[in-house]
Amino acid sequence: MNPAEQQEEPVCDVISGLRAPIKTLPVRLLYDARGAALFEQITAVEDYYLTRAELALLAATLPQIAERVGPNARVIEPGSGAGRKTRMLLGALAAPATYVPIDVAENQLADTATTLRDAFPGLEVLPVLGDYTSALAMPTSAKQFATTLAFFPGSTIGNFEPSEAKAFLARLGQMAGPGSMLLLGADANANRDELLRAYDDSEGVTAEFDLNVLAHLNSAHGASFELDQFMHRAVWNAAKSRIEMHLVSKKNQTVTVWNEAVTFARGEPIVTEHCYKHSPAALEAMLRASGWKVLETFVDPDQRMRLWLAQR
Ligand code: AVI
Repeated sequence: MNPAEQQEEPVCDVISGLRAPIKTLPVRLLYDARGAALFEQITAVEDYYLTRAELALLAATLPQIAERVGPNARVIEPGSGAGRKTRMLLGALAAPATYVPIDVAENQLADTATTLRDAFPGLEVLPVLGDYTSALAMPTSAKQFATTLAFFPGSTIGNFEPSEAKAFLARLGQMAGPGSMLLLGADANANRDELLRAYDDSEGVTAEFDLNVLAHLNSAHGASFELDQFMHRAVWNAAKSRIEMHLVSKKNQTVTVWNEAVTFARGEPIVTEHCYKHSPAALEAMLRASGWKVLETFVDPDQRMRLWLAQR
């Protein structure tokens, strides 16, 4: 993140989160430049099965999915694309017309556009700079497209609170338009041990990713967190069907953030992220409530990751 972006970063929600009875920090803090790079590393660690399983599932099912979507599709992708999954999808579709990546990271969007124009000559790439969690206008396409496919892989839907997830899916449907399709990837695993391994991996990458939030607060907000006085912990909350990422204070301590003193008791956590593992029934209900009708689902051989193909 460059210094100009740092100045613009809001701090009110940071302070109010740290003042709440259960301390929380905004999820966006996990994804600064270093956090995004660490997340990329997480996707390759042995214990974090989600990416591997979804890639294998995409490889196995994209021919079928492409057939249902048909030729000349416009693909909308909230979150930065140009990754392996985007290229797999665009490569499987018959003559995709237009690709609309949506992201807040301007440089990444520009890189995405360049990479995909090079990889898919003839594909119209129309980047939209903005926060995909709010309503955004779709750019006018110079090409005729037959249908729109919204692509939201990676189980990122699980990082929204359930009511926000519903609102997001409904907004995505409005942005994509009537008759549009959705390809959503989500993890439905409820095996506590596998989940704890995936979110507190033995290589320590997830711990580094989580602790980077404190390093970010130190550099961007003049905070005084001592990184070795907090530890990462993953907690499976079965009642809520979610993994909670916690940073736990190793001692009684006081930290300053923008000259505000925040006290921690030994063992007190800060919640940095929720990763919901919606059951297939819960996710189907969520899709239905937000205006999507499920056409087909595909599940990986371990019955954990699922792809949902739905239509408005
Ligand atoms: C980005 N998102 C889908 C990840 C997940 O699995 O919920 C974030 C993550 N947090 C820790 N590890 C991965």
